[in-house]
Amino acid sequence: MGVVASAPAKIILFGEHFVVYGEPAIVLAIDRRAYVKVENRKDSNLHVRSANLNLAGYFENNVFQIEQGDAKEARIKFEPVKQAVGKVLEKHGQNVGLNIEINSTVPVGAGLGSSAAVVAAATTAVSALLDVKLTKEDVFRISYEAEKVVHGTPSGVDPAISTFGGTLLFQMDTGFKPLEVKTDIPLVIGDTGVERSTRAQVEKVRNIMDKYPRIVEPMMKAAREIVLRAIEAFKENDLETLGALMNINHALLYGVGVSDESLEWLTNAARKAGALGAKLTGAGGGGCMIALAKDERLEPVLEAIQRAGGRPFVARKTDEGVRIEQT
Ligand code: MEV
Repeated sequence: MGVVASAPAKIILFGEHFVVYGEPAIVLAIDRRAYVKVENRKDSNLHVRSANLNLAGYFENNVFQIEQGDAKEARIKFEPVKQAVGKVLEKHGQNVGLNIEINSTVPVGAGLGSSAAVVAAATTAVSALLDVKLTKEDVFRISYEAEKVVHGTPSGVDPAISTFGGTLLFQMDTGFKPLEVKTDIPLVIGDTGVERSTRAQVEKVRNIMDKYPRIVEPMMKAAREIVLRAIEAFKENDLETLGALMNINHALLYGVGVSDESLEWLTNAARKAGALGAKLTGAGGGGCMIALAKDERLEPVLEAIQRAGGRPFVARKTDEGVRIEQT
């Protein structure tokens, strides 16, 4: 019974943080997904349970009651889901009770867009259950509004990629444009295991920007040039250039204060093991890094990241955005 929907995690190849200031970013969906199952309830409460976080609780007339785990953590993690479901219920025109069950294979707080994937999947599952017709554009908008509640000033890149999948060129004023990437992009993702908040990282960059605008603005411009050059490199299937651009992009992110010791260990280990390039991905301050390597170097890079204390896995890009798994 019920409806199950899923949405992919993402990695940002180029342009995180700078994208919040209107610069372009290149982002791709990966083969790790968040699954959300929804069912009707007899009462009008909204019950949310996350199997992977060991958290559960419910909203009764906007008051949150904890059932499992830490109340504050559950409230923060479930708030975007509640916001998004609330929007779908508004369109439905009737307040109904729901059970929402989250099962995610995406590491949380790691820069892979786990929260946006969960919200996009929840929005889609609830709309299918209640027969509320939503376009993908609607799912993106609803997920984006919900993310704003917890993430402060997000660019929208996370909900965009979780909704649409594939490889996107994203810019706040022009939106997203699918990028045709014919070549495989062999990547190792290394999770530092250090959880952090996107909101705090975005604020950190804002403080540096406010304090040193004349220094940070040229860095923003450099980030834009990296994206433009990367689009050419994709067309030419030039992995060497993509790797070099990743290293430069990482240096810019380090400069605006969002790398940390764990990320430096892992990126350096990956480069030493023969990666063409390595950088943090997403918000930084912990979370994940990515390394680009030729197929024959993937294994040594993976091992090096592991030896340096990270949790590595090979990522494949996926074209599929949010989708219904079961009705
Ligand atoms: C987070 O995945 C990406 C950031 O650029 C924030 C955003 O774009 O909203 C750090």
